[in-house]
This record gives sequence, structure tokens and C-alpha cells, in this order.
Amino acid sequence: MARAVQLAELGRFTTDPNPRVGCLIVRDGVVVGEGWHRRAGEPHAERHALIEAGERARGATAYVTLEPCCHQGRTPPCTDGLLEAGVARVVCAMVDPNPLVAGRGLRILSEAGVQVETGLLESDARALNPGFIKRMEQGRPFVRCKLAASLDGRTAMASGESHWITSEAARRDVQRLRAGSSAILTGIGTLLADDPSLNVRLGTDDLPGMRPGEAIRQPLRVVLDSRWRTPPTARILTLPGTTLIVGAVDDPARMADLKGAGAEVFLCPGASAQVDLGALMSELTRREINEVLLETGPTLAGAAVSEGLVDEILFYLAPHLMGDAGRGLFRLPGLDRMRDRIPLAIADVRAVGRDLRITARPDPTGSARRS
Ligand SMILES: NC(=O)c1ccc[n+]([C@@H]2O[C@H](COP(=O)([O-])OP(=O)(O)OC[C@H]3O[C@@H](n4cnc5c(N)ncnc54)[C@H](OP(=O)(O)O)[C@@H]3O)[C@@H](O)[C@H]2O)c1
Ligand SMILES: [Zn+2]
Repeated sequence: MARAVQLAELGRFTTDPNPRVGCLIVRDGVVVGEGWHRRAGEPHAERHALIEAGERARGATAYVTLEPCCHQGRTPPCTDGLLEAGVARVVCAMVDPNPLVAGRGLRILSEAGVQVETGLLESDARALNPGFIKRMEQGRPFVRCKLAASLDGRTAMASGESHWITSEAARRDVQRLRAGSSAILTGIGTLLADDPSLNVRLGTDDLPGMRPGEAIRQPLRVVLDSRWRTPPTARILTLPGTTLIVGAVDDPARMADLKGAGAEVFLCPGASAQVDLGALMSELTRREINEVLLETGPTLAGAAVSEGLVDEILFYLAPHLMGDAGRGLFRLPGLDRMRDRIPLAIADVRAVGRDLRITARPDPTGSARRS
């Protein structure tokens, strides 16, 4: 199963909006077929592995990172493929997170006399597809917030000057994060200050699993801009891929201007004439967005954290001090007492070039509140 997880990982930059899935066919202790899902519309991992195994699949064990599908989608059901090939045993890491299908694939196999087991390396398999799983289980995308700061937690000088805080290596790491995301979100504050591109600027050589020359998927770019202040000349509108501008005030003339400049527009009014973040998440779910990367300033980053929409925060910390007049990471008004702190759990710490990357997640046990 560990090998199947590695295979699934090869689909990191291409399967979206489908899940990353890997499969291994093992006969008498020997691997006779390997496969992974590359792209929506193309064969699933099981099909690739079964083709490679051929006749040797008869009586073999299939290891799959996700429960085999049992419905006719863009490709025929994998349960049919496994049964036709005569596989004797199917071990999957996790059941399908879609509550409408969960367990049905396994039941079909089991009723046909195949021995089935689930749960092997389940947490590794879940980590392959945080967005797909969250969208299926909760009807929301998985949101990662990425921030670059000095070691003293500053994101810009008081003047607003901020380029570049982190090293080239950290910025390349962010490029890979973008390439694996379904959408990149920013606020109008960042757009007006930086005129960012928010695109993937890597080659296929930099992205494991991609074929040389294969087209790189550009994530949907989303700008939160309540009053449609995005200039029609913004760089983001000139690049390949789709840019969605989300506003909160009905202004047909401005919306038409932005559409004319190549943007899609979405009206999503919330409290205080700002974008309703929860409703926006529902809209992104409707668009089959699995993983969102929030790359924004302290205002929107703070709002998203306060509303409990952020699942993971990636802090890239550069080894310098920017002083106490510099700007902070999250605008969080109303945090006055120690008990108001937002508790996080650190999931990972590593060096990226000369910088440090800390991955943290909201801590539901709230240990910081108690200590
Ligand atoms: N260090 C880093 O990692 C990093 C990353 C990105 C940006 N930055 C820096 O951050 C600075 C900009 O930060 P910022 O705080 O001014 O802007 P921001 O967080 O990028 O955008 C905030 C704006 O988004 C709009 N918005 C719409 N709906 C919202 C909602 N529900 N909640 C919150 N905001 C909503 C608001 O303007 P409207 O009400 O007009 O819509 C708000 O002022 C720039 O200097 C940039 O360089 C740093
Ligand atoms: Zn399938």
C-alpha cells in the first residue's frame, strides 16, 4: 500500500478535480501491475494496473488507495474491471468519502466473492486528497493559507515594501503548492499593492508525474473585491487560465467592464458589504474546487481564520528581523485576553533553502487556551 500511495502521489499536479489514486496488483508476493490515475476522463489507477498485469491478475490481490468506483462515469466502473480480471482480494486504504457511494464498491466486490479489506495506511491515503475528501464529506474545499514573514513575524515594512522576504527556494516551494492547488485566492488589498500573477511558472521537469511538454494546469485565480476595484489592466487578467472576481455590491457597469477585460464575475454579498466567505466556499465547491491556496494580506487572512475556514497555515519564515513597525500576519481584532488566542498544532517543520517552513493546523483540542 505504501507503494500505491507513492504512485498516487504522481497525480498530484494533474488529477484535479478527481482524487489522486494509486493501485498495485500483487500475485504470489510479486508485483505484476502498477497504475495511477493521471487525469479526469482518463482510465483510473486500477485499469492501468490491470492492463499491466494482464492474465496474472487472476487470483491476485489488488492494493488501492481509494475504494474502487462502481458507477459509470467518464470511464467504466473499476469494480467491473477487477471482477472481469478475476482478482481474488482487494485491499483498499479508505472507503469512498462520497456519502452517496461509500462502501458500495466494496459491497459489490464482496458479494461477487472477492475478499475485501479496508483501512490499511488510511491516514497516508487521506493525506493524498485533503480537498477531494473535504469537498465530499463537508461540501467545502480544503483551504491552505500561505504566508511569508521575517522571523519576528512581519510581512512588510511599515511603508508597505515587502519584496522579497523569503528566498528563491521558498518561492519555488510556493510555486509547487500552487501547481497542486485547484484555486488561488487573494484580496483586493494584495492585488492593488502588488499586481500579482498568481500563476504557475514551473516546467514539467519541476513537477513529478508530468510528461515532458504536457500542458500545466493553471489553478483558478480568485480575487475578493467587494466594490469591483480591480483595474481592467490588472496583470492577472492578461494571463492564460481563468480569473474570477468576487464582489459584494451589485454594480452592473463595473461588472461588465471586468467581464470585458476577460474576468468572470460572481456577486456574493455578505455582512458589511463584503464578500460572504462561506457562500464563496459553496460556490467554489460547486465548481469542483478541491484545494484552495490563500495567498493574501493580513486583512483577508485574518478574516478567513476568524471564520474558521482555514484548514492549514504554511508559514515561510526568513532569517531576518523587520522590526516592530512592520506589518503582521493576521488582522484579528478582538483578541484581547490570553484565552482568546487561536490555538494551532504544528504538523511539520522543515528548512527550505535558508528559510524555515512551519505547517500548522487549527487545534480542535484548544491546548493553548488551557495552558
Ligand atoms: N507576506 C505574505 O505572505 C503576503 C502575501 C500576500 C500579500 N501580502 C501583502 O499584504 C498586503 C495587502 O494586505 P491587505 O490586508 O491590505 O489586503 P488583503 O488581505 O490582500 O485584501 C483585503 C481586502 O479584501 C477585501 N475583502 C472582500 N471580502 C472580504 C472579507 N469577507 N473579509 C476580508 N476582506 C475582504 C476587502 O476589501 P473590499 O472590502 O474593498 O473588498 C479587504 O480590504 C500587501 O502589501 C501585500 O504585499 C503579503
Ligand atoms: Zn474507478
